[in-house]
Amino acid sequence: MSWEEVAYSYDKIVGKDGHYFHQHVIMPNLSKLFHFEKYESPKLLDLGCGQGFLQEHLPKSVKYTGVDASASLINLAKQKRKGTFEVHDLTKPLSLKEKEFTHITIILALQNMGPPEIVLKSAKNHLAKNGKLSIVLNHPCFRVPRQTSWGIDEDKKIQYRRIDRYLTPLVIPISMSPSKKEDSEITSSYHYPMSTYINILGDLSLGVTHMEEWISDKQSTGKFAKMENRSREEIPLFLLLQASN
Ligand SMILES: C[S@@+](CC[C@H](N)C(=O)[O-])C[C@H]1O[C@@H](n2cnc3c(N)ncnc32)[C@H](O)[C@@H]1O
Repeated sequence: MSWEEVAYSYDKIVGKDGHYFHQHVIMPNLSKLFHFEKYESPKLLDLGCGQGFLQEHLPKSVKYTGVDASASLINLAKQKRKGTFEVHDLTKPLSLKEKEFTHITIILALQNMGPPEIVLKSAKNHLAKNGKLSIVLNHPCFRVPRQTSWGIDEDKKIQYRRIDRYLTPLVIPISMSPSKKEDSEITSSYHYPMSTYINILGDLSLGVTHMEEWISDKQSTGKFAKMENRSREEIPLFLLLQASN
């Protein structure tokens, strides 16, 4: 399993508090959407939890459970975090002893797992009534690996986003260490258009109650800074879908 092969290098990138985008974009936005204070005994299930960085960002009152297919990432999580951890391939149905989670998260992991139906059904089966399922995706409209890119229109003086493919589901190999060329570990990214996610959630009677599109907070310098900064503010990096039972 390719994530198993990159477990230690991924752990180095993510560290204790998360990688750059976890810390600067995802957690500042996602934390505002949990509203743990509204739940008597909040419990959060993190699907595709990796090494469990999310647990560091939660209030102590939140009981944390993490599930991931990589045994090495789960071992690292057990060493570093407080909570319950399980190794499980989420392309197969999940059935934990503990159910009725008030919160379920899938952070930058659904697009690594293949067809989303089974994992979303597992999420549904573990979600308490009025619980919140929060899914963070690389924005499927604007960030399709190898099929979207930036371009510069010299006449209009704008940086634009070029979308070569969108509607067709794709499996795209991702080199995890491009500098190692053919020796690089490969993981897979699975692309689906936005309608696929919304319709699977609908078929599971999970209603999308909230959606956000998050931009990067980075700032360019140099010759193209103005156009780069403007396009960065317009074209989101991440999509948040929140759904409820
Ligand atoms: C990009 S990482 C994200 C991890 C974590 N959520 C984070 O934000 O750091 C993708 C994760 O999905 C996990 N994953 C990939 N396929 C999986 C599967 N079939 N079942 C469970 N986890 C899987 C990988 O092991 C990896 O930890």
